[in-house]
Amino acid sequence: MNKTILITGGAGFIGSHVIREFVVKYPEYHIINLDALTYAGNLENLKDIEQLHNYTFVKADITDQEVIMAIFQQYQPDAVIHLAAESHVDRSIVDPTAFVMTNVVGTVNLLNAARAIWKDNLEGKRFHHVSTDEVFGALGETGFFTEETKYDPHSPYSASKASSDHLVRAYHDTYGLPIVLTNCSNNYGPNHFPEKLIPLCIHNILNNKPLPVYGDGKYTRDWLFVIDHAKAIDLVFHEGKNGESYNVGGFNEWQNIDLIGELCKQMDEKLGREEGTAAQLITFVKDRPGHDLRYAIDATKINKELGWKPSVTFEEGLSLTINWFLANQEWLEHVTSGDYQNYYDKQYKGA
Ligand code: NAD
Ligand code: TYD
Repeated sequence: MNKTILITGGAGFIGSHVIREFVVKYPEYHIINLDALTYAGNLENLKDIEQLHNYTFVKADITDQEVIMAIFQQYQPDAVIHLAAESHVDRSIVDPTAFVMTNVVGTVNLLNAARAIWKDNLEGKRFHHVSTDEVFGALGETGFFTEETKYDPHSPYSASKASSDHLVRAYHDTYGLPIVLTNCSNNYGPNHFPEKLIPLCIHNILNNKPLPVYGDGKYTRDWLFVIDHAKAIDLVFHEGKNGESYNVGGFNEWQNIDLIGELCKQMDEKLGREEGTAAQLITFVKDRPGHDLRYAIDATKINKELGWKPSVTFEEGLSLTINWFLANQEWLEHVTSGDYQNYYDKQYKGA
């Protein structure tokens, strides 16, 4: 093994795709998946790769400073790719403290542990912090977020992520820790937890339940297929410049109501239902407090400097995503019933 990479949050939506990308593409790396298995962590996401020789799962909570330090001492990772986070805006409005604990305190614990074990030799070391475009705040009808856009977070989620980004940069500036950051737009794809807009609507269409549209549905997001995000992380991790950040986006803006319309159309086709059936489920509900109007990423830097661009169009990515959910309804059932939380006990008893 020529490198040990510790990836946090690997049982989550994006983290599981990053783990798969690295474990399969780099058999010479030892990949450690460190995850607390909160409600959002699901080891069923990694069933297909968990037997590979270069993959190890460690159940741990990043808010526990001592446990994190002990894990770093045991495995001596050469690099960290940090995705573990509380990630749902609506939950952050209900319970901001959990977001400060995991996203801020948890990040500091990882930074301290990396700094401690790398103190004598920074050669080949890297701390890659995975963040969001939501740290930049909200755009009006025009304009894009660049790497130079001033941070202006509005929700407790985005404020906690902004805080973690600042800390990562501060450890670079103050202690010389080798870092890179990626700030990505909204992801969608297989294994997306059905509390977020797209998988929630797929689940509700399958079950003939209302599709809740916040406010007037005119809010705009820039959607990226999750595997394209995993590939961007791979590229920036290996080729990004020390100390820099890279925006990652889909060049793909949709107003929520139009996106749901496209989703309804594709679902009707795939389920052999009459066109317009799913759209009848659209229900306008109370708006989210402090709802950001529009996010849109300018991904010129990662495109020009590292040659990254999305590999699928939105129509293709959405079709792949719906096909995955239709073929994996058991996954969806396990997640919505809570059954997935027993997987760890069954699979890793005594681990
Ligand atoms: P997710 O909620 O699906 O997964 C988060 C994972 O982190 C879960 O496996 C969970 O068990 C783990 N986790 C949570 N708290 C932990 C703790 N205290 N200790 C250890 N593990 C813990 O999140 P996601 O959507 O996959 O997002 C992953 C990262 O990417 C986050 O940092 C998020 O801010 C960022 N991001 C997400 C999006 C998006 O659209 N989902 C877009 C841009 C950036
Ligand atoms: P979400 O998937 O929660 O991602 P984020 O808040 O991080 O962008 O929401 C995407 C958009 O969809 C956002 O504008 C809020 C809206 N939304 C709804 O209209 N209804 C819903 O039930 C959810 C979960 C989100």
